[in-house]
Amino acid sequence: MSLLITNIGELVTNDPDLGMRSDAALVVEDGLVTWVGDASAAPAADDLVDAAGRAVMPGFVDSHSHLVFAGDRSQEFRARMAGEPYAAGGIRTTVAATRAASDEELAAGVFRHLEEMRRQGTTTVEIKSGYGLSVDDEARSLRVARGFTEETTFLGAHVVPPEYADDPAAYVDLVTGPMLEAAAPHAKWIDVFCERGAFDDDQARRILAAGAASGLQGRLHANQLGEGPGVQLAAELGLTAVDHCTYLSDEDVHALRDAGTVATLLPGVEFSTRHPYPSGRRLIDAGVTVALASDCNPGSCYTSSLPFCIALAVREMGMTPAEAVWSATAGGAAALGRTDVGVVAPGRRGDLVLLDAPSHVHLAYRPGVPLVHTVWAAGRELPVI
Ligand code: NIG
Ligand code: FE
Repeated sequence: MSLLITNIGELVTNDPDLGMRSDAALVVEDGLVTWVGDASAAPAADDLVDAAGRAVMPGFVDSHSHLVFAGDRSQEFRARMAGEPYAAGGIRTTVAATRAASDEELAAGVFRHLEEMRRQGTTTVEIKSGYGLSVDDEARSLRVARGFTEETTFLGAHVVPPEYADDPAAYVDLVTGPMLEAAAPHAKWIDVFCERGAFDDDQARRILAAGAASGLQGRLHANQLGEGPGVQLAAELGLTAVDHCTYLSDEDVHALRDAGTVATLLPGVEFSTRHPYPSGRRLIDAGVTVALASDCNPGSCYTSSLPFCIALAVREMGMTPAEAVWSATAGGAAALGRTDVGVVAPGRRGDLVLLDAPSHVHLAYRPGVPLVHTVWAAGRELPVI
């Protein structure tokens, strides 16, 4: 089956040769884009969609989320908005609720949040564990996540759970031993929250090394709550991406640039914790690849919306609308080491979004407005419930 989308007022391709195109058309066949060009030269196809002058872009690639959880922390958010600081320890509240939930409840939660994401244009999503923090609860969190995506991340090193409060070293032994063994078959990545109140750089180094020995690729949560060693550790290890990057020294920025490690910015977290926004401009001008992701989780940031993150990046982080859209699509793909998504070009997946707007600029210009009209994943129109 082939699908022709024509009369596209603005086509964001993220492909250096194809560029940003007007009066464009594209064809998707058997799940892949097979043709991109001028609407006037479009070939025939089995199905036809008339974009009526509106914008089409790649589906969003959300490279950072924590969707396997139960419970609600809206009271914590309310307290923060009244002046309380965000603390990593809040994670333990969600751990208790997640441990008490059934597999079915956890899967239903993931499904519901993925539906939310899809309605907002996300077609690829990474999902972390990290609210189980026992061998069985981490393994089942990853099994649940694997039911929805290949991009699963073992985050046993999210925080030290209460039962190990007096012996964090024993918890690191558990994470690098039996927990990793149970998690590895269901995970592509391993992640560590490298931050004061969570894990230090020595622990992170050990955990990532153990993960690598089990075939998992490393990523880090780092420099979220203050400057620290995590970003430079990510660069030293040549990790694909390091996430948060809220507090960066010049040395951190240079290390990211030299290593080619993607800086994944999560502006919904700064919105929801009242921390200062990092400067996307500073990173881009220094030659660092920037991704934007939601970090959807019940504590530090409970948004599933990449359009919201794009609006924040443009309003608060010095990024142009085109840069922000790139970072939420091709940038997310780079952060996941993926070349098949995030770009509209022949040979790439037919993951597409039709906006109810004439250009990508409207994603920031009209914040909070549901502009995603139609979403296709591998050329198949997704039902929007
Ligand atoms: O990405 N930083 C660590 N983990 C999550 C927050 C988790 C929570 O507060 O429940 C994050 O912000
Ligand atoms: Fe996170």
